[in-house]
Amino acid sequence: MHKKKTVLDFQKMKAEGEKIAVLTSYDFPMTGLIDGAGIDMILVGDSLGVVVAGHDNTLPVTMEEMIYHTKAVMRARPNAFVVADMPFLSYQTDLTSARLNAGLLIKDGGAAAVKIEGGVNAAAAIAAITEMDIPVMGHIGLTPQSLHRMGGYKVQGKGDAQAEKLIEDARAVERAGAFAVVLEGIPMGLAARITEELTIPTIGIGAGPHCDGQVLVIHDILGLCSKYSPKFVKRYAELAPIIAEACANYIADVKGGTFPEERHCFK
Ligand code: KIV
Repeated sequence: MHKKKTVLDFQKMKAEGEKIAVLTSYDFPMTGLIDGAGIDMILVGDSLGVVVAGHDNTLPVTMEEMIYHTKAVMRARPNAFVVADMPFLSYQTDLTSARLNAGLLIKDGGAAAVKIEGGVNAAAAIAAITEMDIPVMGHIGLTPQSLHRMGGYKVQGKGDAQAEKLIEDARAVERAGAFAVVLEGIPMGLAARITEELTIPTIGIGAGPHCDGQVLVIHDILGLCSKYSPKFVKRYAELAPIIAEACANYIADVKGGTFPEERHCFK
């Protein structure tokens, strides 16, 4: 069994050049499996709105849903460090709501930290929450809650002006007190530059190999969702056809009267 991870471990891992492995998880059984495999950090991502709830994007996800899923993850008692995403509208309108909602993800959900999307524009919220001694992970670059501003899920930080803006975002997140920052959908050279400059660990998704760690959505790496896979995803299993075949076999057994057998029955 791996040792319980804390914020201190991630700073040390960056200093020693040990990569940080992060996966999303949203429920009890999957968390047990991911944690048993030795993951460093689990993100209860608002991506659950898409991969679990079937929405087109993450914008409809609510605080209640985030708390529900964070609680389910925590019931697996993971040794991984658990970060809960702050959903759209839970931190953008005012700092009092940002503080309260972050506190609820820790107090009710049981997470150890929260994640906030945004750079310079999120710095005040990050600072307000870290002042309450709640660790915050930043998230810059392709930020899915900014879908409509970005005009789609497009790689960010291309060209000198956009790259400079992202470097400013990274600096602002670090200055505001974040313990780590997700770099999503940015050119690998820019991610390397930000990783080199920051003292806090960078966790990449579609940001190349030079980040201090990597994060992917569990449904994507297991091949649980659609056949379409973004370029940055590596699929480590193809579970969708296996599940479909198991269900088809069950249906055939029930309809053909071959399930249940005697060994499945009580006498
Ligand atoms: O919501 C999420 O799962 C995320 C990760 C993909 C970084 O934000």
